Amino acid sequence: MENNKIEYEILRDILKISNSTLNLHERLNQVVEKIVNKMHVDAGAVYLMKKGGEALSLKAAVGLNPEMINGISLKVGEGITGWVAVEKTPLAVRDIFQDPRMKKFPGSGEEKYRSMISTPILFLGKCLGVINIWTIAEKEFTTDDLHLLSSIADGIGGSIRNAQLYLDATEQYEELVSLYDISKMLSSTLELQELIGMVTRKSTEFIGASGCMLHLLDGNDNLLKVKSMYGLYKNPEEISRTHLKLGEGTAGQVAAKAAPMMINKLSKDSENVLPMERIFSSLLCVPMTVKERVIGTLTLHDKKDAFGALVPFDKDDMNLLMALASQGALVLENAWNYERAERLFQENAQKANDFAILYEISNAMSTTMNLDQLLQIILKAVTFGGGLNFNRSILLLVNEKTNTLQGMLGVGPDSGEDAFRIWTEIGSKKMSFKEWIASVKASGHDRTSRFDHLAKGIRIPIEYGKGVLALTVLEKRGFNIRNAREDLRINPEILQKLEFESFATVPLISQDRVIGVIIVDNLYNKREITENDLRRLELFASQAGLAIENAKVYSDLEMAARSIRELQDRLIQSEKMAALGEMAASIAHEIRNPLVSIGGFARRLDSKLDASNPEKRYSRIIVKEVGRLEKVLQEVLAFSRSAEPMFSECNVITILEEALEVFEESFSESGIEVSRDFHDGIPTIHVDSNQIKQVFINLFSNAQHAMSKGGRLSVGCEYKEVEGEVMVYVSDTGGGISEDVITNIFNPFFTTKHTGTGLGLAITHRVVDAHGGDILVKNEPGVGVTFSISLPARQKQGAAIQEMDLSEARTSLKGKEIHHKGQEDFLDDKVKG
Ligand SMILES: Nc1ncnc2c1ncn2[C@@H]1O[C@H](COP(=O)(O)OP(=O)(O)OP(=O)(O)O)[C@@H](O)[C@H]1O
Ligand SMILES: [Mg+2]
Repeated sequence: MENNKIEYEILRDILKISNSTLNLHERLNQVVEKIVNKMHVDAGAVYLMKKGGEALSLKAAVGLNPEMINGISLKVGEGITGWVAVEKTPLAVRDIFQDPRMKKFPGSGEEKYRSMISTPILFLGKCLGVINIWTIAEKEFTTDDLHLLSSIADGIGGSIRNAQLYLDATEQYEELVSLYDISKMLSSTLELQELIGMVTRKSTEFIGASGCMLHLLDGNDNLLKVKSMYGLYKNPEEISRTHLKLGEGTAGQVAAKAAPMMINKLSKDSENVLPMERIFSSLLCVPMTVKERVIGTLTLHDKKDAFGALVPFDKDDMNLLMALASQGALVLENAWNYERAERLFQENAQKANDFAILYEISNAMSTTMNLDQLLQIILKAVTFGGGLNFNRSILLLVNEKTNTLQGMLGVGPDSGEDAFRIWTEIGSKKMSFKEWIASVKASGHDRTSRFDHLAKGIRIPIEYGKGVLALTVLEKRGFNIRNAREDLRINPEILQKLEFESFATVPLISQDRVIGVIIVDNLYNKREITENDLRRLELFASQAGLAIENAKVYSDLEMAARSIRELQDRLIQSEKMAALGEMAASIAHEIRNPLVSIGGFARRLDSKLDASNPEKRYSRIIVKEVGRLEKVLQEVLAFSRSAEPMFSECNVITILEEALEVFEESFSESGIEVSRDFHDGIPTIHVDSNQIKQVFINLFSNAQHAMSKGGRLSVGCEYKEVEGEVMVYVSDTGGGISEDVITNIFNPFFTTKHTGTGLGLAITHRVVDAHGGDILVKNEPGVGVTFSISLPARQKQGAAIQEMDLSEARTSLKGKEIHHKGQEDFLDDKVKG
């Protein structure tokens, strides 16, 4: 009776509770409280069956440790409660410690109770959970008690079922919402690596695994490679190093079959699983597919519940992960496509820009054939912001004669402030390269910078072991140097002044030959020099090399044209002179016979006339003037006859002394001091001694004329062993030759003297040529003249005679060249001599 009343009351209350809006947890709590109160027991609890029907979880309790709610999880069949769930029959136990089914849950608070009733909650024959009640004191529960609790359990069965359905629905709803959130988040970024990281993190968190890894299939080698790992992996390096073939390991099999795999009992001996995966106890791996094409896999390891305990993956997890994987695959594919499109776009834009710049630069380069201007334009292009955009650059050219690299030009700011000023200036004007070059040209020469000055001082031998610049030439390739101090072995002083830290070099190539080197650096903005920068610079350098070569060829051509013009002038001149000479010779011939008679008779007349005779004065004059005429005639004839030399072994110094002897008196009369510098060991040479003596006499005579008021005549002689030549120097202090006549002094009949014939140097030149020698003039206006004559110590006269005409032109030019440029060289020789 008592029990009937309680039953009625409890069921009524439970009905009330069930219809309330409370959540399942609250309802169960209230139900347990009701039961414990009404049935006068010490404790009560409700366990609910987990999804899958394999375990029970404590959901509400009175008299147990409240922290254990949701914490105690017992397998179906485990303990008294588990037994009841399997058998689906209620059970009363008088002393639970005596019961063999008893299982202790330390910390649950259960251990203080002795007697209990455990009843299954059934719904349509399925066990949804278990209700337990306990007493501290040992108690013999009656069948009525058992019956009462069973009725209550039956009463709440439906309610629990409904609540569970509701709970499942909400859970599913929540999952959907989170899935949606995740996919929204995934779509929010197109950064590939960020995305991949997000997929693994979200999958791990969402399903509650210990870790997640994402493999992507590399289209090039068809290998699966780990792109992201999330969670606690002990050996991340090893994992990311391990690339999987299709069919290899779990991921390989999943990718090959495009089907998911779930292993809940991994062990050391699991087959088809990589050794590094065997440390886990469970895994779930699903394919990532886009339009039925597998792009990778997503693997979760070791699922854990809210309490950190390992739990198996289930079908729901698989479905969830599949959903995540397909979402992830889609956004990854999008990101890829986006990235690819963007890269293509950027590459194309870059290329178009490169070509536009190169076009503009080559246009600018074609505006000039002036090498200096061209070099300026080239380096401006390298440093211009809209151009190649380096901070500084230096251009060096190969000097083939000395086999060195020579700094030609440096363009760049001298300091950071300078750089800033220039950049802001250019930036504010927004000039194109063309406009900028035009403005540079218009403003005349650029202000010379310290940098330019230093650049011009660079000289590097083109040899191995002389640093990167030499290597750039030798190996015909550019270098990108990160640490200048280790690599650039140019003059350390220059290096320090130029402050190179990192820099790049490229060869300037024209027709397969390296003609120079460009150095660039970014000292001021510290921008790294990329491979792309280097590629553009190389492209540009090949154009610049061609332009430089063109300009060089052009200036060479100009120079050649100039010397041809000069040569032509000389030829015309010497032809004129030859004709004049011939005419003079024939006139001389005509005059000779009458002159011989006149001379003969004049001398006879003179000897007949007494000194006191007033006519004697006239006869003297006639004799003297005829003598002069005879001398002129002799010289003219000597010149036009061009006598063949009579060679014999001679000592040059002896010849020099003989010639000096002729002038001994007249030199001292004019106050001319003679100094000799004759070296030892001068070999005898094969010459016509008379002709060579005449050469020296002509030179001394000219010197004497020039120094009529005194001076010093220096005569030197030395042997140049390497060249196999004997050199003779005749140097005076007679004030030199005036600039406007110097080019004519070797022409026959050119003279600046009243009494001269102008044949002295013409004859001298002809004789030296006939001996295969050379004659050079070094004129120092206001000081004096030095003639130097080289005579071959070995025989080669035959060849020289045939070359005479040509060498005449050459000698004249050479004389002029020395006069203009060769002063130092010549001075050196003179000092030595
Ligand atoms: N040592 C010299 N110093 C200054 N002028 C010189 C010297 N040698 C030659 N000249 C110039 O060169 C000209 C040509 O010299 P060259 O010996 O051919 O003829 P010349 O001395 O004038 O006449 P010639 O030698 O036939 O008497 C001279 O008239 C003179 O102007
Ligand atoms: Mg003379």
